[in-house]
Amino acid sequence: MSSFEYAETAMNDLAKRIRPRVGFLGVGWIGRHRLRSMVDAGAVEVAAVSDFDRSAAMAAASNIPGAEVVPSLQALLQLELDGLVIATPTALHAEQAIAALEAGTAVFCQKPLGQSAAETARGIQVARSVDRLLAVDMSYRFVRGMTKIKELIKAGEIGEVYAGDLVFHNAYGPDKAWYYDLELAGGGCVIDLGIHLIDLALWMFEFPGVRNVSSRLFSQGRPVAGNKKSLEDYAVTRLDLATGATLNIACSWRLAAGRDAVIRASFFGTQGGLSVQNVAGSFYDFCAERFQGTSRQVLDQPPDSWGGRAAIAWAERLSRSRKYDSDIERALAVAEVIDAIYGDNIASGKGNL
Ligand SMILES: NC(=O)c1ccc[n+]([C@@H]2O[C@H](COP(=O)([O-])OP(=O)(O)OC[C@H]3O[C@@H](n4cnc5c(N)ncnc54)[C@H](O)[C@@H]3O)[C@@H](O)[C@H]2O)c1
Repeated sequence: MSSFEYAETAMNDLAKRIRPRVGFLGVGWIGRHRLRSMVDAGAVEVAAVSDFDRSAAMAAASNIPGAEVVPSLQALLQLELDGLVIATPTALHAEQAIAALEAGTAVFCQKPLGQSAAETARGIQVARSVDRLLAVDMSYRFVRGMTKIKELIKAGEIGEVYAGDLVFHNAYGPDKAWYYDLELAGGGCVIDLGIHLIDLALWMFEFPGVRNVSSRLFSQGRPVAGNKKSLEDYAVTRLDLATGATLNIACSWRLAAGRDAVIRASFFGTQGGLSVQNVAGSFYDFCAERFQGTSRQVLDQPPDSWGGRAAIAWAERLSRSRKYDSDIERALAVAEVIDAIYGDNIASGKGNL
């Protein structure tokens, strides 16, 4: 079953199951969105909400019967929740997830789980050792068109895939200050947007090995100094997979893209191409197409409300069992590519070229 079908089936089954008691830590933009999606799907009972900004927590909990507002992660964990949804700034994820897991609470964490492969591995290792469910919100896997093209690639419909082109340009750039603070953001557009492309690229081929990663990073048009992690706002990477395919990946903040966003994942094989791309610069609407020479066939079009599906799928899984699921180990492969992107820049001093 595809991840999309899985999420749909999950939504239908949820009403028949016992809803897990879940807490929410961080209810800014994405935390609030995921909370709403899960509540609307009847996927969880919201036990409590916490945010540094108490007014944000109050707003998120309003009109949700039984939802308390509590002051901290520690207060959330004292409630003996079944699960915790974390949507705080990036650098806080690993430590908060580990604290929750060690308290016996399953976790659904915003991406990335860790700022590095080492941090990601630590989170996974703790989840495994306490035998608790841990998942990360790789939301774009649940775009309906994305699951369709994955099925077609798997079925060999475009022959042997040898090339791919994945881009995510956010022409606004993030609108919150913490994204520009390396201590909280852990990096720039690669850790923010590139992570989705890397995850899609590997997920599309069931996580094959990665043979080579080479990258260049820029900040405000200048190569990023090749001696430290950066707040890059443009990155281009070539990823060579063990399948033999080579993928070009590019992401940016505030690029002169001529529209709000350019988001695309295209794959080319010996018998055709498949592509999912955003419609008219939208962050939310996607169209999936199949290419044959110079002709194209539409496979999928909006509307498709995909944003909350990963969260709902986690809640459904949690309603059946809070035990560890090894699927999270794939997050490590993505984190290793991100380390390689930053490390390649640092080790080779490419920024100084
Ligand atoms: N999966 C996706 O598609 C997707 C999309 C957007 C954002 N994200 C991720 O979600 C996370 C949040 O991003 P956002 O844009 O919603 O940010 P945001 O600034 O809107 O929300 C973060 C919230 O966390 C709160 N907060 C900060 N420190 C806290 C702490 N120690 N304890 C409790 N609350 C705390 C802030 O007050 C704020 O309300 C980021 O890591 C981002 O990468 C994921």
